Amino acid sequence: MKGIILAGGSATRLHPATLVVSKQLLPVNDKPMIYYPLSVLMLIGVRDILIISTPADVPRFESLLGDGSQLGLRIDYAVQDEPGGIAQAFTIGADHIGNDSVALILGDNIFHGTAFSDLLLEKSKDVRGCVLFGSEVRDPERYGIAEIDASGRLLSIEEKPASPRSNLAITGLYFYDNDVVDITKNLRPSPRGELEISDVNQVYLSRGQANLVVLGRGFAWLDTGTPTSLLQAGHYVQTMEERQGVRIACLEEIALRMGFIDADACYRLGVRMSSSGYGRYVMDLARSAGLSASLS
Ligand code: DAU
Repeated sequence: MKGIILAGGSATRLHPATLVVSKQLLPVNDKPMIYYPLSVLMLIGVRDILIISTPADVPRFESLLGDGSQLGLRIDYAVQDEPGGIAQAFTIGADHIGNDSVALILGDNIFHGTAFSDLLLEKSKDVRGCVLFGSEVRDPERYGIAEIDASGRLLSIEEKPASPRSNLAITGLYFYDNDVVDITKNLRPSPRGELEISDVNQVYLSRGQANLVVLGRGFAWLDTGTPTSLLQAGHYVQTMEERQGVRIACLEEIALRMGFIDADACYRLGVRMSSSGYGRYVMDLARSAGLSASLS
């Protein structure tokens, strides 16, 4: 499975904070926002990742994450000249996807919950059609909305409906089989001129191949679209991290646990940031995993 993180857009609701820097580079507590969606892809074991952003921001993501090899990943970059819709990720990323399945995650989506990685691992195996993830929200008119029947079967998908049929929002994490590339090629832009992700999902629904996984109450799906929700997301992460003594979306930790890098490499990544709590956390993790004689 290949991975794509879509991290473009102009984030006007966060102006002036995002006038000269991408929203997805703003900090959520102790780390850049993009760490959170990147950590989700890493937890599924996806190592070949394309980051799509604006012409101005691609170089900034590149200086933050490089080619990904320090984390045992391969990260490529592509430019989206204008925000032409979320599904444009599949036309821009067609070569990257090749003949594979793909996990798309929006660069501003933050997920946290018990056994989330086990759930993701199970659902990302052998994807046929698409797998969508639903989460209850208070303001359904702001999202793609799913309607399900009593058995959990998906009945309809509507993008930002004026009269929502449910409170179940479709989150910004999507798994697709390889058909997504052709489906998107044949998609017509919406009245606002965008290739809408909900239209792609509609095609799968009409084929009887759209699956929805409802994230229950134990899951947090956090919004970062406004100054208030961004701050709340930061507080959530800070509270969880302080209470539990573990970090959420620590890329070095995930790379180490997934076996993408060894303890020595993890330690060296921590040393570069040893003035911060995050850096020292990474160094401690590496020490407990067992450093080679030259570093211990
Ligand atoms: O967050 C989940 C929601 O994301 C879904 O429920 C909706 O179905 C889906 O359309 C989307 O709704 P949003 O209103 O959040 O979409 P927005 O246009 O704000 O874009 C979401 C993120 O993707 C945002 O950080 C910017 C980025 N983006 C968006 C577009 C349209 C791009 O990088 N390029 C784009 O062309």
